[in-house]
Amino acid sequence: MTTATTRNQRVRGAVGTAHTRVEGRDKVTGAARYAGEIPFAELAHGWLVLSTVARGRIRSVEDAPVLGMPGVVTVLHHRNAPRLDTDYVGLLGTRPDPTCAVFQHDRVPHLGWPVALVVAETSEQAREAAEALVVHYDQEPHDVVLSAASPGAYTLDGHMPAVAAKGDLQSALGDSAVVVDAEYTTPEEHHSPMEPHAATARWEDGRLELVDSNQGSGWVSDELVKLFSLDPASVRVRSEHVGGGFGSKGVRAHQVAAVMAATVLQRPVRVVLTRRQMFSLAGYRSPTAQRVRLGADADGRLRALEHDCLSLTSTVYEFVEPGAGVARTMYDADAHHTANRVVRLDVPSPTWMRAPGEAPGSFALESALDELAEKCGIDPIELRARNEPERGPISGLPYSGRSLLACFQEGARRFGWADRDPRPGVRREGAWLLGTGTAAASFPAGAAPSTAAVTAEADGTYTVRIAAADIGTGARTALTLIAADELETAPDRVRVRIGDSDFGPAMIAGGSMGTRSWGWAVTAAARELRERLTPGAAVPPEGVTVRSDTTEAIGALAQRERHSFGAQFAEVAVDPTTGEVRVRRMLGMFAAGRIVNPLTARNQFVGGMTWGISMALHEEAVRDRASGGLYGADLAGYHVATHADVPLIEADWVDDPDPDDPVGIKGIGEVGIVGAAAAIANAVWHATGVRHRNLPIRPDRVLTAGRDA
Ligand code: MOS
Repeated sequence: MTTATTRNQRVRGAVGTAHTRVEGRDKVTGAARYAGEIPFAELAHGWLVLSTVARGRIRSVEDAPVLGMPGVVTVLHHRNAPRLDTDYVGLLGTRPDPTCAVFQHDRVPHLGWPVALVVAETSEQAREAAEALVVHYDQEPHDVVLSAASPGAYTLDGHMPAVAAKGDLQSALGDSAVVVDAEYTTPEEHHSPMEPHAATARWEDGRLELVDSNQGSGWVSDELVKLFSLDPASVRVRSEHVGGGFGSKGVRAHQVAAVMAATVLQRPVRVVLTRRQMFSLAGYRSPTAQRVRLGADADGRLRALEHDCLSLTSTVYEFVEPGAGVARTMYDADAHHTANRVVRLDVPSPTWMRAPGEAPGSFALESALDELAEKCGIDPIELRARNEPERGPISGLPYSGRSLLACFQEGARRFGWADRDPRPGVRREGAWLLGTGTAAASFPAGAAPSTAAVTAEADGTYTVRIAAADIGTGARTALTLIAADELETAPDRVRVRIGDSDFGPAMIAGGSMGTRSWGWAVTAAARELRERLTPGAAVPPEGVTVRSDTTEAIGALAQRERHSFGAQFAEVAVDPTTGEVRVRRMLGMFAAGRIVNPLTARNQFVGGMTWGISMALHEEAVRDRASGGLYGADLAGYHVATHADVPLIEADWVDDPDPDDPVGIKGIGEVGIVGAAAAIANAVWHATGVRHRNLPIRPDRVLTAGRDA
């Protein structure tokens, strides 16, 4: 094979062909090391101590007895910890969440707040001492429960304006032949990646090195530089393999605590979050209380659309779960009002979580559309076809591609939608009631400036360096294929090195923008390198390196409404005597740009849809009003869909290359969960005749349906 792929033979076609992960063998054999298992000489272990009250002040940390325990090296807390600078705006344009600026004051804003770090020679000794550490508090009354009637709610801009409004809502609703007015709730949901957050910090030759599990090494490096007032060149963050990240793997308390301890002790210190600690320190998806009002003509054409989404945030940090945003892309109406509001409570700070806004927002909006279809007596797909906008309903911009109806058409054909009897509650199979449902999906398709370096090595291979993160998406493999095509070589001649802040600025693995943003930078560098290499000329021993920076190219992008789209289909069986809901099959058809690697792309879509099952039927973190903490903050108490819950899921796509992207990519990481829970809830209605507007659709809710509000 190698003779077929010498440097100047034109070989293309890697992009679009299924490739197993380039690091797959290392991962399954255990050769791939994760942040918490890389050995260091003289390594000490830190264990975080978290508050046991939900609000108050720390009166004292009784560290003296603990300092005498076996192996204990130090105890850091608000009276002795180094000072941090939190008065800055980070790379993502946001201020730091004070939760990660550990041990700076005596206030406790929520249960599970970090109050101390015990450092010892072994992890076991650190844990033993941390559990023995007595902390006294002056406790204050707390409020942790979100409800639609929560006082003190206010509108909050997040990554989008809080409010968008056009037209006269009241008169448009008054003029409508059919009105849907419904309230929906979604619960607090947690990321729960397989690999908990873990970091090791050490100083070596005047440089701080952090070995970490994150979604952006440059991002975490930048935060540490600012928090500790360091020279940017003196900080290096590495994160080679990441066992899952869905928005929570940025800078968190454990990295900061590890850097503090490594600085104080001048030896390497590792801090790992336990699964339980992640429930208060990793961020989570806020619960939501949403109201949707739709007004339509008898033929289903929308006149009025209102979507209000209330979420919570902590008392120390403003984060909004913008559930009302998805309506601004999906459907137009003369009167179109959307608003995202928050209320501040004595809870941990929520954060980004896979499809922030779209995931809970699409549950409400796409359920309401199904209710409207029922009221109008129109097929739910036909209803969406009648409301397909020409331009962005709020932006007024043309779409860079909107193949939503193509997804519905092909999905309906494969799913067998045409034979569907629209009447609810009429299909039985033994004890089971059967139903099918559908919903639309969308997610923004963006690109952000990144830099990359591509080197032609003297041996005829190539090395790509970019501070990308592969959080399980297959990004490393996708970048290998993209580089190979642009270099006109075979993927096995390209080595992609990622997860190192020394490789220069690059987009984080987030917003479904990672692979597109990095792919753009890799393409630019590879193209220039190919042009620069003289056919037949020898490459010097140090190789030839070309660097790219896509800041200008991305800044020059035409103004368009850019989104991925999709159509979700689900079939469910409901046992009305036990309340059990089983998803029998799912199909997702997506229009999500050019698909780089069908193998890992399918994985992303199916993963998102599996989250949708989990969201519809299982996931729910329940906060105890009295203590302010969660019931069962672990994977026994917090149920996520596992193998037995997940049926055959089929995911596929229609041709939808982005016209402005050099590879045609749009981004696929998040659109898979959008609409998935609504498709399942709509199928449960079709099976039973009962609307479930509160997630998850637990057996007790199915049993009491029609009786509870
Ligand atoms: Mo994602 S919520 O952009 O990691």
